[in-house]
Formats: sequence, C-alpha cells, structure tokens
Amino acid sequence: MPAPEPDQAQWWRDAVLYQVYVRSFADSDDDGVGDLRGLLGRLDHLAWLGVDAVWLSPVTASPNADWGYDVSDYCAVLPEYGSLADLDEVIAAARRLGIRVLLDLVPNHTSDRHAWFVESRASVHSARRDWYVWADPKPDGSAPNNWVGSFGGPAWTLDRASGQYYLHNFLPEQPDLNWWCAGVHDAFDDIVRFWWDRGVAGFRIDVCNMMVKDSDLRDNPPTTEDDPFIMQMFGQRPLYSGNRPEGHDVLRRWRAISDSYTPKRLLLGETNVDTLEALVSYYGPADDELHMGFNFPFIEAPFEAGALAGIVDRIEALFPSTAWPVWTGSNHDVSRLATRWCEGDQAKVRLALLMLLTLRGTPVLYQGDEIGLTDRVFEKEELRDPVGLRFWPHYPGRDPERTPMPWDGGPNGGFTSAGVTPWLPMADAPMHVAGQRAERGSVLHLVRDVIAVRRQSGDLRAGAYRRLPAGDDVWTWQRGTATVVALNFSADERTVALPPGIATAGSGAGGTVVVGTHRGRHGSSTGDVLRLEGWEGVVVTSPG
Ligand code: GLC
Ligand code: MG
Repeated sequence: MPAPEPDQAQWWRDAVLYQVYVRSFADSDDDGVGDLRGLLGRLDHLAWLGVDAVWLSPVTASPNADWGYDVSDYCAVLPEYGSLADLDEVIAAARRLGIRVLLDLVPNHTSDRHAWFVESRASVHSARRDWYVWADPKPDGSAPNNWVGSFGGPAWTLDRASGQYYLHNFLPEQPDLNWWCAGVHDAFDDIVRFWWDRGVAGFRIDVCNMMVKDSDLRDNPPTTEDDPFIMQMFGQRPLYSGNRPEGHDVLRRWRAISDSYTPKRLLLGETNVDTLEALVSYYGPADDELHMGFNFPFIEAPFEAGALAGIVDRIEALFPSTAWPVWTGSNHDVSRLATRWCEGDQAKVRLALLMLLTLRGTPVLYQGDEIGLTDRVFEKEELRDPVGLRFWPHYPGRDPERTPMPWDGGPNGGFTSAGVTPWLPMADAPMHVAGQRAERGSVLHLVRDVIAVRRQSGDLRAGAYRRLPAGDDVWTWQRGTATVVALNFSADERTVALPPGIATAGSGAGGTVVVGTHRGRHGSSTGDVLRLEGWEGVVVTSPG
C-alpha cells in the first residue's frame, strides 16, 4: 500500500524532526564514514520511531575543512557520501515511509575551493571579485577592522597576491559570501529551487543571522559585563559582522520562493542569537521569513524547572500566533543533552525527552538522543574538529557529540564493519539501538511511545500552552483542553495539584496517565493530587 503523501500546508507544526549527521549515522561501504546508502538502510529505524522529517547535515561537495560546512559545490553530493542518484533514492524511500527530507543550506560562506572563490581570488578585476568580502588593509597593513571569527582569531586573511584581505567569520577555508551582491542572491535562488524541485522538503539554514555584514565594515563595539559570557570571551559584540537588518530581506526572498511550492518548503533557521526578541524577529513581522528558528537560549539553559519554564513562558508571551516554536536539546555543535543537561543520568534523560516532545512547538531530536546517548571524552590525538584542535585543552570542540551511531552491541556498534576504523571513535557508552528495541522499558521505547501519543493527541500537537502553578523544582503545564504535563526536576518525591477539569474529568475520578517516564505508571488513574517520584514526568489526560 503506498504511503499517503501528507500535504498539509504547515506540516512541520505537527511533525517530530530528527537530525541525521550523515557522516556518523551508518556506513554502507566500509570506509569508516557514514553515507547515503547507509542512511537508506536505516530509514526503517526512523519510521519505527515515528519521526516525520529528517534534516541531513551537509551532504554537498566539500573538502571537509569544517566537515561539510565548507561547500565547494552546492548542487553536487560529496562522493564519500554517494551520488545525486543515491540522494534521490533516499528522498523517495523516505517519502514511502512518510518521512520528508530537509537538507542543510550554507549561505554565509563557501569553501575556499569553491569555483566562485577561486575566480574571485584570481584578480581584483575578476567578474566575481564582489561575490566575497574583500577589503584593503589599514595604512599600517593590518586587517580592515577588528572583527574576530566565531572560531577564534581574526576574521580576515591577507591574500598576498592581490594585497587585499578577505573576510571569514569561521575558518580561513570558509570565505564569507558578499550578500550585498545581486549575483549571490540569484545564485542562491537557483540552488534553492534545484533542491526543492528534486523533492527536498526544505532547509535548515546555517548561521542564517550572519549573512549580511555592515556595508561600511565598521568595527564591532567592545563587550560589557552585561553581555553573555561567551560573547565576552570574544571581546566584542557582533553588531556589524552579522545580524544586519538587510539579512531579513534574504529570508523574505526565500520565503516567497517557498510559497510558490506545494507543499510549501520549510525554512528552519540556525538562529544563534542571544535574545528571544532577536529570535522572533527572524520569523518576520508579517510572518514572511523563517517558518521556524532554533532557540539557543533554551538549548543553553540549565536543566532546571525555573530556567526552562521561564524561557518557555517568555516565548509564549513574545511569539505572535503565526510564529511556531522549536524545541531541541542536542545538535552536532553542542554537547548532547544526555551529558550537558543530564550528566549521563538516564532518569533525567527521560524527563528531558518527555519535555521536548510535549511542549507547544516542533521538537527536533538529534541522532542518538532517542537512546540517551552521551558525549565521548576525547584525547587530543583523536580530535578531528578544527575548533577542538584550536581550543584544546580549554574546549574539546564538537567531536564528543559527533561519534558514530551505535546500532548494536557488535564491533563498531554496527555503524561500520568489524576491522574498519570509524572516522571518529565510537562512544564508550553502553547503549545501542538494538538493545533498547528489545527492552520495553528503554529510553528508546519511551521516545517512540511519546511520539505516538503526540500523534494521536490534538492537545499535544496544537493545543495552547498554559503554565500551571507548582512547587519548587516542578514544572507543570496544560495543553489544550484536557492534557496536563507534569515534570519533577528533583530527586525527591513531589506532589502536584491537578487543575479542575483534569482533576474532575468526566466522572470526577481524575485523569489517566497516558505516558510517563516511569513506565509502570502508564494507564493508571490519578486523583486530583498527583504524586511524582524523583525525576518523574507524566502526561495526564481527562477522558472526557
Ligand atoms: C554552523 C554549523 C557548524 C559550522 C558553522 C560554520 O554553526 O552548525 O557546524 O561549523 O555553522 O558553517
Ligand atoms: Mg561510507
């Protein structure tokens, strides 16, 4: 039976998204590197789990100075990962399983090996010179301004041949495109259409708040002690090196192209901004920019009821009804939620996942979250991430969260064959997919069950969020008319008073636990007072 093609206009609002870091997902050809045919062979896991769409980290051609985020051809697949035909096959096979495929679009910069940059660099008179940000040195020969790169060090590199500097907000191998140049806009219109015409359901847009830089290349102002700690480490506020108002025009243009497709193609931005006000601005004042933007203040918040609930409350107050939130706890750039939020404690991991999957908005899981996978501790000699190599030993970089997916208990966790050396070592953690599939009480089954409950529940998918009063360390909220989520962020037992309507649902006998972190609780009735064990979370509905 062919799977029905879901075509709701805003399908992502009902969806659970899943990030596949292709290089570390599954290796089909024993080179130690994950690839598209490996992903193809594991789509059944994603269908079984119940995810609606996958975001693939870059699969486009790249010399891999920054593991795919240095693109040398936006319309070609990296041969290590397979071919365009393989990608078409992934898209078609996923569609048969009801799973849409999003790609990663990297518009802020290209690889220094991209033909555009090679041509741009060739001469100051090159027809593509203004596709990148070139500037003369200061009279003393130093860089044109004070901007520092996001990976540390100056954001400018001198090109000796022409005597000018070029801008790179990341590695010197990642020259920034000049979004003041019309040719760049046109080229990206074509790239976007190329993939959307092939059935790609949308993009996760890399550093989408930085594309446009100040046209006068003004110095960034120094930080003050009121600025976030990380910004203070860089010593300057990125006021002019990104985040310019004209960046919104680029997003509006892509949104208009998306609107010309049926179904509309999703624009999901990497909006790494430090205020929620800045985040909402990327949805556009007239709901005409991103459909969704990642919430970094939430990702970076401590795993405490007050801190997390505070951010959610502010989102609920700030976001207009047209703007739809995203909830995520892990990705390929930040320590995994199981380590960062939960210190490896699987009871906390269950609570974190239940939270992500029951807030109002679209959850995005990162591969491995569904088994509670933790970061791996790296030695310097094992590092592959240029950021870790640069900042070691103060920061190990991003390899700890990029280790290959453990599929089973065999050699190399089933990621690649025995005897092959995976491109990054496997995590030391004992969990793997096959083991958890065989165990009904596992984190994996919990995630699958919550996704299934969510799919069945209009309240959980679309119902309004209303914070309910609760004691210390407890976060309780109502969704829609008949669903309550209660989470205990402490190791001690806590009690929660259920609101009328849940407490007196139907016969007045209380609600029913439809799913919870403590699996024995499933199906049990509650009174009007709910007792939660340490780190326990439940979803309760009233029968009526
Ligand atoms: C984004 C990506 C990150 C990459 C950077 C530069 O933050 O998620 O992995 O290194 O952009 O492209
Ligand atoms: Mg391979």
